Amino acid sequence: MPEKFFTLITGASEGLGKSFALDCARRNMHLILVALPDSGLDRLVDFIRRNFPVSVIAFEKDLTGPLSCHELLMEIQRQKLSLRVLINNAGIGSTLPLSEESVEFYERQIRLNVLATTIITRLFLTNLEQHTPSYILNVGSMASFFFLQQKQVYGATKSYIYFFSKSLRKEVRRGGIHVAVLCPGGINTNVPVTLLNRKLGWFSKLSVMEPERVAAIAMDRLLRGDAVIVPGMVNNFFMLLDKLLPGFVKKRVTDYGIRRLKREEHHTRWMQRGFPSPSVMTKMA
Ligand SMILES: NC(=O)c1ccc[n+]([C@@H]2O[C@H](COP(=O)([O-])OP(=O)(O)OC[C@H]3O[C@@H](n4cnc5c(N)ncnc54)[C@H](OP(=O)(O)O)[C@@H]3O)[C@@H](O)[C@H]2O)c1
Repeated sequence: MPEKFFTLITGASEGLGKSFALDCARRNMHLILVALPDSGLDRLVDFIRRNFPVSVIAFEKDLTGPLSCHELLMEIQRQKLSLRVLINNAGIGSTLPLSEESVEFYERQIRLNVLATTIITRLFLTNLEQHTPSYILNVGSMASFFFLQQKQVYGATKSYIYFFSKSLRKEVRRGGIHVAVLCPGGINTNVPVTLLNRKLGWFSKLSVMEPERVAAIAMDRLLRGDAVIVPGMVNNFFMLLDKLLPGFVKKRVTDYGIRRLKREEHHTRWMQRGFPSPSVMTKMA
C-alpha cells in the first residue's frame, strides 16, 4: 500500500479552518483536524467522509492547554501518521480597547495565536522533514502590517506570526519544507465577524472575502511555493497604498475606520440595553 500523507489543520471546526478542510478534501488530501471539544467537528468529519475519498482523523483539543500540543504529537506518533502539510489556523481576534478585555482573555489569545503555533511547528518539524516536499502555512492577518487601535494585542500576535514564518522559511527551505504566511483582510467567517464586516465603510467592505475563496487562493499559492499570501485584489491595493501614502494620510484613514467601529459598538451596546438608537433619540429631541 502506498504511504498516506496527511494535512494537519488547527481550528478546523468553523470559519476559515473549516474552509481549508473542505478545500483540501476536494484536492484528495488526507486530513487531521483539530478543534475545541464539542465544537461540531464530528459533523464536519462525517460530511467529509461521506463526500470525499479521503481519510479524516479528528482531535478535540484546547490548544491553549499547557500539554495539549505535546498530546497531539504523541497521538499522531502513536498512529504513525505522516505529515506533508501543516496549517496553523486556530486564532482568536479582538476589537476592544486594551482596558476593556480581561487579562485572562489576552493570556488565552497569546497562548493560542503565538505559543500554540510555535510549539506545534517545532514539534512537527521532524515529521515534515521526513516527507518532503512539505508545507507549513501560518495564518497571520493584514493587521500585522498596520498599527491599529483596538487590535493592539491581536496585531502584535500576527506580526509575530509574520516574522516567525518569514525567518523559518529561510531556515528550512533547503531541507525541502516550504513555509508561507497568509495575511487576509476581513473574512466572513462567523456570525459576529460577518455582522461587524457589514458595518465597515464601503471601500473596506469591498475587501471582505468569503472563507472558501481565501482558503482556495491560499492553498494554490502555498503549493506553488509563495512566501507571503495576501488574498484579493482590494487587499493587495491596500498594501500598495500603504507603501505609497505618507504617514499622516494613513493615520487619518485608519483613525476614521476605528471611529466608525467604535460608533457601531457603542450603538450595538445601546440597543442591547433596550434603548432606541441614538439617531432616533436625536430625532425625538
Ligand atoms: N475572520 C477574519 O476576518 C480574519 C481576518 C484575518 C485573519 N484571520 C485569522 O484566521 C484564523 C481563523 O479565524 P476565523 O475567523 O475563522 O475564526 P473562528 O471562526 O472563530 O474559528 C476559529 C477556529 O479555531 C478554533 N479554536 C478557537 N480556540 C481554540 C483553541 N483554544 N484550541 C483549538 N482550537 C481553537 C475554533 O474552534 P471552536 O469553533 O470550537 O471555537 C474554530 O474552529 C485566525 O487565526 C484569525 O486570526 C481571521
